[in-house]
Amino acid sequence: MLSNEQREQFQSRGYLVLENVFSGQAIGSVKNAAQRIVADFDVSRHRTVFTTRDRDAGRDEYFLESAEAVHCFLEEGALDGNGDLNRPKELAINKIGHAMHDLVPAFSDFCRLPVIGQVLRDIGYHAPLLWQTMYIFKQPNIGGEVRWHQDASYLHSTRPGVTGIWIAIEEATRENGCLWMQPGQHHSPLREIYEVDWSSRTGKLQTLDDTPWTSGEAIAVEVPAGSAVLFHDHMPHFSSQNRSDRSRHAFTLHVAESGTAWGAKNWLQRPNLGSFEL
Ligand code: FE2
Repeated sequence: MLSNEQREQFQSRGYLVLENVFSGQAIGSVKNAAQRIVADFDVSRHRTVFTTRDRDAGRDEYFLESAEAVHCFLEEGALDGNGDLNRPKELAINKIGHAMHDLVPAFSDFCRLPVIGQVLRDIGYHAPLLWQTMYIFKQPNIGGEVRWHQDASYLHSTRPGVTGIWIAIEEATRENGCLWMQPGQHHSPLREIYEVDWSSRTGKLQTLDDTPWTSGEAIAVEVPAGSAVLFHDHMPHFSSQNRSDRSRHAFTLHVAESGTAWGAKNWLQRPNLGSFEL
């Protein structure tokens, strides 16, 4: 599937863009499944907001439990001063996470599309395991900024680490909050780590290294729907707030080689669900 040039590009730049990998039907099935989850979501029971602005404070039990569940998180800007929604539920969800691949057949089917396993084998995986999935809505006008970060801060593992696959369910542009990457910066140090103290079940983001976030040139990754972006877990990446009147849905997978050891303080622990092979 991948050419030698693409493999080389992934290793040297730290990310690889594959345009138009998935059919309209395939991304439509994931989008419909996400919309069904939102339709069934009872906002009055779970008002957990997902934001990256405040160094990840406020992540609660509902967040920790989502490692092995399908939970909806709200946009910060979708709640009024009383904690009530200020817009329709369908336009208020920030993301769904993090075990749809295990628990929702449409997501399982999508993740098992042969092209995904093939691409992972092409970049060197032998037995890739899928650890986490997220469906990100980036809602029109309020879809929040995701500040510069490295995914390894949230998915601690032994090297070679985790690979992220970011799939555009809708077109991503500068206006609606596309990804930004820094070619070559996947070799830069891990700046932060988010660790959970399991006795109190609280998480904390700590600084490990003061290297500036934008030490490299930032590239806007504008892609059509159905495209995929693969990236290393040390690659600094960012997406701005969606200031347009169009949503920018994306579906992400995080994958590690079978046998990769996971940190005990990692927020993502899957004692009950086991392995999902790709
Ligand atoms: Fe990320």
